[in-house]
Amino acid sequence: MIIKNSDKPWDAVWFNARLATMASGAQPYGLLENAAVGVRNGRIEWIGDTDQLPHAVLNNCPQQVDCKGLLVTPGLIDCHTHLVYGGNRTNEFEQRLNGVSYEQISRAGGGIAATVAATRAASAAELLEAARGRLEGLLAEGLTTVEIKSGYGLNLPDELKILRVARQLGEEYPLEVVTTFLGAHATPPEYQNREEDYIDLVCDQILPAVADENLADAVDAFCENIAFTPQQVSRVFDAAGYHKLPVKLHAEQLSDSKGAVLASSYGALSVDHLEYLTEQDVAKLAASNTVAVLLPGAFYFLSETKLPPVDALREHNVAIAIASDSNPGSSPVGSLLLMLNMACTLFKLTPEEALAGVTRNAARALGRGDRIGTLEVGKQADMVLWRISDPAELSYRIGGNPCNQVMYRGKPR
Ligand code: NIG
Ligand code: FE
Repeated sequence: MIIKNSDKPWDAVWFNARLATMASGAQPYGLLENAAVGVRNGRIEWIGDTDQLPHAVLNNCPQQVDCKGLLVTPGLIDCHTHLVYGGNRTNEFEQRLNGVSYEQISRAGGGIAATVAATRAASAAELLEAARGRLEGLLAEGLTTVEIKSGYGLNLPDELKILRVARQLGEEYPLEVVTTFLGAHATPPEYQNREEDYIDLVCDQILPAVADENLADAVDAFCENIAFTPQQVSRVFDAAGYHKLPVKLHAEQLSDSKGAVLASSYGALSVDHLEYLTEQDVAKLAASNTVAVLLPGAFYFLSETKLPPVDALREHNVAIAIASDSNPGSSPVGSLLLMLNMACTLFKLTPEEALAGVTRNAARALGRGDRIGTLEVGKQADMVLWRISDPAELSYRIGGNPCNQVMYRGKPR
């Protein structure tokens, strides 16, 4: 007798779900009522009506979850974090509230440089322990993928140290860690006023070592008047291309430096922040597949007032992702759900756009849109069962965590 592949028992089935598949289509949120999802070998094998479940495959299916009409979404994806660092910057928070600006603090040797000093002084074990705490907070909210950047080492040993810690987090925890080399985050103190020499170090020494050890999935830079010029960023991107690594960019956060258009000309996966992106440049961005990643936590925490051009991004059909930017200086954020609320309240995204920003579009921003980010047959079985039924409620609440169960690659977590 021939056993058809489709008759083999499933590893898991979640049924009676309000399924926000987040697949693009006619229904808001790609919503399916009374739905069931069958999972085999870590992938989604079947999606359909609970009443049509093929009973043969349910025999011996060890994980059968009655979702009782509650909401199921794809696992959440935080596509922009700086989770691995030493110390914190509570003192700068206090300074800013006493009237000193983020830019002034940065120019006076604080800011990123302060975290660089603390990160260099920390051992890998200490960095790992500190990052675990931060990651566990995110995990509890149904994260199944997180991106982690380096960029607080700014020399060969410390950039490697951060990226190894990030990779190790991916081995310790049941979630996918995507790593990004952000050597061109700031000029380290020992290279002050020698920015070009530092870019040489990044391109000729640190990046090749990072690539050699396969420590990064992408390369990022900070294009800003307090960081690097478009020309310097181009050098880093050319080096990334040489090592066959995709690029992304911190762009237009504090001023219009024309970083986003430059990055999109390199086929960047994403351009991130974008408060100062002009409408004309949105049109140029639209000609690429580059995702616009908005970071409402940094906007909020720095008390920024210049809003990213959300209407123009929408009009030009640029995919919008939302991320925590979790970092000690501009976004000490431990909750991606809170970012959904802020994306709506501060940037006027709809709750559906916000949820797409941490699922479908966040997956694209990581170059993994073919594998994660939506609930569709063939995709990785990363999903979350929530104690709520309306997907907009994920954006509506401030605080509180309705996450009930998480499946990662087909396994209960
Ligand atoms: O994404 N913009 C550049 N980097 C971080 C902030 C880093 C820091 O202040 O430590 C960001 O906002
Ligand atoms: Fe950032």
